[in-house]
Amino acid sequence: MSDSSTSRRRVVVLGSTGSIGTQGLDVISRHPELFEVAGLAAGGSHIRLLAEQAVRFRVPVVAVAAGGAAPSLREALDALGGTRIRIEAGHDAVTSLAGSDADVVLNGITGSIGLAPSIAALQAGSQLALANKESVVAGGHLLFDAQVREAQINPVDSEHSAIWQSLRAGTHEEVSRLVVTASGGPFRGMTRRQLRDVTPEQALNHPTWRMGPVVTVNSSTLMNKGLEVIEASRLFGIPPERIVVTVHPQSIVHSMVEFRDGATICQASPPDMRLPIALGLSAPERLGNVAAACDWSTAASWTFEPLDDEAFPAVSLARQCLAASQKHTAVLNAANEQAVHAFLGHRLSYLGIVDTVKAVIDEMDAGLRSAPLFESVEEMERIEDEARHRADDLIDRAE
Ligand SMILES: NC(=O)c1ccc[n+]([C@@H]2O[C@H](COP(=O)([O-])OP(=O)(O)OC[C@H]3O[C@@H](n4cnc5c(N)ncnc54)[C@H](OP(=O)(O)O)[C@@H]3O)[C@@H](O)[C@H]2O)c1
Repeated sequence: MSDSSTSRRRVVVLGSTGSIGTQGLDVISRHPELFEVAGLAAGGSHIRLLAEQAVRFRVPVVAVAAGGAAPSLREALDALGGTRIRIEAGHDAVTSLAGSDADVVLNGITGSIGLAPSIAALQAGSQLALANKESVVAGGHLLFDAQVREAQINPVDSEHSAIWQSLRAGTHEEVSRLVVTASGGPFRGMTRRQLRDVTPEQALNHPTWRMGPVVTVNSSTLMNKGLEVIEASRLFGIPPERIVVTVHPQSIVHSMVEFRDGATICQASPPDMRLPIALGLSAPERLGNVAAACDWSTAASWTFEPLDDEAFPAVSLARQCLAASQKHTAVLNAANEQAVHAFLGHRLSYLGIVDTVKAVIDEMDAGLRSAPLFESVEEMERIEDEARHRADDLIDRAE
């Protein structure tokens, strides 16, 4: 890592056209004295935006995962005067860019396709500002084994960033429990019966955060919280039974750490992902003027309530998978991605999402338990493919 007092940190932004990526670039744009963008990567569905970003931040190279998008990206770059910007195409190009020895790699890719780039960044010795929770949930030990030194991962998910910040208050031995907060999503307070007819349009309407479609649906089913419990357990080395989920609709307290003397330390701020993203880029220092702080001049209430596990069974399913094996959590994530896509395509009911995931896990359970660790990323991808196929079969049969 270069010394930020003498030279700018070179940042690679993966998933630059998405919610995390655009907010990451917004943070970077406010601190040109601290950061330079060494490369951008995206999937290929927002070519014009990707070209504009590349020209604006004067990046030398852009990687686009969809190889077929390279000609239109070239055209868009040339039209904006970015004729000297190099294009690398294909998923391997995204992974190579991630492993190109930047100071920091911000991974804002959605899905476990983000694992190989995360591993490449760690192996290259870069600091990994990790929003892509699937790297932890699906990859597990494959991700952590790739670290070449201690503390190479800067959590960007707001809950994990909050825990990371709160952990500064004590030692690992002094931690009693992690308390992960959940907004409760748009359907908080509804019964399972009331959730039967939820439409994609309703599920995409998150009350406090603006995120990509899969993440937004995951927030509404609370599967996102389930994935976050898995992520928290693995990132901070705390077993699942010492991780509590509490529903906090205001989304001001982003998570907490309870210490053995009874003290609970939290991180609070109005919802704005730029805060954890900025810390992910600048840690251990904090940047100035990143996001608004709490307004103490007006009355406010922060409420906390227990999670309704019957209406939202995703968290307990995630806990079971976490306790079972690394492979179970990868299957949970892959089957869920498939089910969410089917729901967004009006092929599956809302309650069918978590029901399908559970059915896939039940079908694969015995095989997963017989060899619980992955040999390689390729093996993980094979198991994910199987989970997706099984989810599709179940969905097709139910149609
Ligand atoms: N958004 C949030 O507030 C938030 C909060 C916490 C954690 N997270 C996590 O952060 C990750 C990203 O979430 P998001 O909401 O930013 O998702 P998003 O808005 O859907 O953006 C995903 C980004 O990934 C790009 N992408 C897709 N496949 C790619 C590939 N193979 N290689 C390189 N880039 C690829 C997309 O490019 P194109 O669209 O141009 O194809 C897009 O730029 C997820 O893991 C999510 O759980 C998000």
